[in-house]
Amino acid sequence: MEILVQLDQIDECARYFWRKVEGKVFAFYGKMGSGKTTFIRALCRAKGIEEQVSSPTFSLINEYTYKEEGINRRIFHIDLYRLRDEEEAIQAGVEDCLYSGDTCFVEWPDKIPSVLPQKRIDVHILPHSNYTRLLKIDFRS
Ligand SMILES: Nc1ncnc2c1ncn2[C@@H]1O[C@H](COP(=O)(O)OP(=O)(O)O)[C@@H](O)[C@H]1O
Ligand SMILES: [Mg+2]
Repeated sequence: MEILVQLDQIDECARYFWRKVEGKVFAFYGKMGSGKTTFIRALCRAKGIEEQVSSPTFSLINEYTYKEEGINRRIFHIDLYRLRDEEEAIQAGVEDCLYSGDTCFVEWPDKIPSVLPQKRIDVHILPHSNYTRLLKIDFRS
């Protein structure tokens, strides 16, 4: 499945994404500056997360909470850009997040090939124009 995301309609696109895509672990592939964090932020906003969602620069993992139909839910935003090796990811609790059943967004998932669950959704973000990105979404199992 593909979605064309225009920056000034990103919130609409995020709502569309949540209507079409069901899953827990989302692996975001794309070069630096391709728009991974920007789209993840929009996906969080669509769930009503108000706090500032930024790239987790100081910790590998940021945790956000929101309420859905009266139930408290969590989203983990995991940015592995600075990760040295898979061992560091396990030490930091990345594996626990990925298998917790909570929603996880992973930037630079290719750094943890053997930790990443088989059952996941791969989102490749490709530059399209200055303000648009093409999202290629693959359901893996
Ligand atoms: N359609 C779009 N979706 C996401 N980001 C976009 C889009 N168009 C332009 N951009 C810009 O591209 C940059 C993406 O940065 P960022 O999300 O931090 O990338 P990454 O996390 O992949 O390194 C931002 O400056 C953002 O404003
Ligand atoms: Mg980023």
